[in-house]
Amino acid sequence: MSQLVFDEALAAQLETLYRTRDVLRRRRLVREALRAGPGDRVLDVGCGPGFYVAELVEQVGPTGSVTGVDASPQSLELARRRTEGHDNVALQLADATALPVPDGAFDAALSVQVLEYVADVDAALAELHRALRPGGRVVIWDVDWSTVSWHSTDPARMARILHAWDGHLADPSLPRTLAPRLRAAGFTDVAAEGHTFATTEQTPDAYGAAIAPLVAQYVAGRDGITQDEAAAWTAELSELGKRGEFFFACVQFCFSARAR
Ligand SMILES: C[S@@+](CC[C@H](N)C(=O)[O-])C[C@H]1O[C@@H](n2cnc3c(N)ncnc32)[C@H](O)[C@@H]1O
Repeated sequence: MSQLVFDEALAAQLETLYRTRDVLRRRRLVREALRAGPGDRVLDVGCGPGFYVAELVEQVGPTGSVTGVDASPQSLELARRRTEGHDNVALQLADATALPVPDGAFDAALSVQVLEYVADVDAALAELHRALRPGGRVVIWDVDWSTVSWHSTDPARMARILHAWDGHLADPSLPRTLAPRLRAAGFTDVAAEGHTFATTEQTPDAYGAAIAPLVAQYVAGRDGITQDEAAAWTAELSELGKRGEFFFACVQFCFSARAR
């Protein structure tokens, strides 16, 4: 397994992906689940380019604050630019398993599509719990990549590509075990909602279509998939798109809970 490296090039690609319709929908769902209000102190673990930080700082207002933590300096630089001028935003370079924050310092915390990359998820959950005050809310969003249903006239090639893509994660099906792990970390009122992201059009606004270039880039040269094969897969998706036969669906999970 060789995980994605959140370097400058990938951070820039994510910047584009995160402006698409489906990812805007995801941010709305996360904000609704988090219910941050004026004066809240919010922690975003794996804040990436800072879209949530920028939106939440407006929501919590001048009496609240938002702290973003990420392990990628390139992502944090994008987050810094996005939130410039807000003195109630703090951005810190750190790992999710060792948060540089005091105990009980936050009213709410979120971590969106981050824990699926973390090898020691239980340590990251323990840190989230430690950072929250008793009763503080957490929202965790991850994808169960085994739910991907992606049409191809060459299903065997599609299966090999998706198998290779699983290697970009520490756990491609983290949502399956997250509820008991949240409880074991001390959280209560654990709830999960599954949200389907589906499209029959190869529009860049659809999650499935938008991630295809990232998938092709990652799998080429891995698990016996050649550059040519990855290119042929991408070309087939374009053909299917032109013929009106594109289909992609996956289930993404929004977990919410409270610290005890
Ligand atoms: C898919 S991006 C999600 C970014 C952001 N949460 C969002 O949804 O807009 C994953 C982010 O998690 C960060 N990340 C991955 N592993 C991490 C770890 N162990 N500790 C902290 N951040 C991590 C990456 O650097 C990247 O910015």
